[in-house]
Amino acid sequence: MDLWILQKRPSGLLEPFELTRLREEARELGIRAEAVAPEEIDLIVSRGGRRSIRRCGIEVDLPDALLPRTGSATDYFSLAILRQMEHLGVQVINSSQAIEAVKDKLYSLQILAQNNLPIPRTMLVRFPVDVDLVAQQIGFPCVVKLLVGSYGEGVLLSRDPGSFRDLMEMISSLDRSQAVILQQYIGSHPGQDLRVWVIGGRVLGAMLRSSADGSFKANISRGGNGQPYRLRPEVERLALNSAAALNLDIAGVDLLFDHDQYSVCEVNSAAGFAGFEAATGLNVAGAILERCLERSSKESISPAVGQCRADPIPVCPTH
Ligand SMILES: Nc1ncnc2c1ncn2[C@@H]1O[C@H](COP(=O)(O)OP(=O)(O)O)[C@@H](O)[C@H]1O
Ligand SMILES: [Mg+2]
Repeated sequence: MDLWILQKRPSGLLEPFELTRLREEARELGIRAEAVAPEEIDLIVSRGGRRSIRRCGIEVDLPDALLPRTGSATDYFSLAILRQMEHLGVQVINSSQAIEAVKDKLYSLQILAQNNLPIPRTMLVRFPVDVDLVAQQIGFPCVVKLLVGSYGEGVLLSRDPGSFRDLMEMISSLDRSQAVILQQYIGSHPGQDLRVWVIGGRVLGAMLRSSADGSFKANISRGGNGQPYRLRPEVERLALNSAAALNLDIAGVDLLFDHDQYSVCEVNSAAGFAGFEAATGLNVAGAILERCLERSSKESISPAVGQCRADPIPVCPTH
């Protein structure tokens, strides 16, 4: 199988851990995997089912499958590439539709709620903010989130109506068009949550994340600790149903402890897995690639008839 891993060019010299691991496991599985940056592709839409695409200025054959690793940073250009690849019969795992939906934190919560899955009570901010309504509907402390974001960067806890009013005034003076959501604070296990990996309709495993600096945010990228977490049927069920509702074949599902139950915090389309592999010893990269193999072999009779690879794929200087 020829697999493209769609990934933004790293800002530093170091390749992301996830890419290195995917390359390692691809070698084990006999998959020809290549990292492709969206900037390398020229998107030309035309009639007819061509089996090639322009990469680094050269016409190249399409891969069998494409694994987008752009997550919440998936921009319009990347989505357009994914849609084009899907249209041309390439297995895109996860799909453009699912990635676009989960990138928007409110939209993904709307889908989860429609599917009757437990989520924190959530409200979309409308400026000027009615603080009394927020107190009544969401309560304090409340979690304030930017609509798009990751690594816990656009997420904060507002403790009382006074500081909340100040924060809203500041946001509205900076950029009134900024979409912000407010969320009920699920505080029964402060600074702790669960990351559950769901791949191909199966739960791979779960990790308990705990913040190390007293923050309510448990993200490993912020220095949180990870420990293996024994799976329980309700965790498995919730993670599987969340991934299915959002149409994600590969998902990092985050669950909050809500007393003796769980609430879905968010679902990621291309979560990092360095902390998870280190904490649990599970092989996320291998499981992802096996799913890609499974998908591409199942769907090998693609809409356009495949043809032999004639030209070598060009190697771009930065990848
Ligand atoms: N409603 C909430 N109640 C309690 N903790 C929360 C809530 N929402 C988020 N958190 C904590 O903040 C972290 C980051 O929030 P999240 O929405 O996942 O943002 P990001 O996409 O940046 O990771 C979560 O992993 C969780 O630990
Ligand atoms: Mg998160």
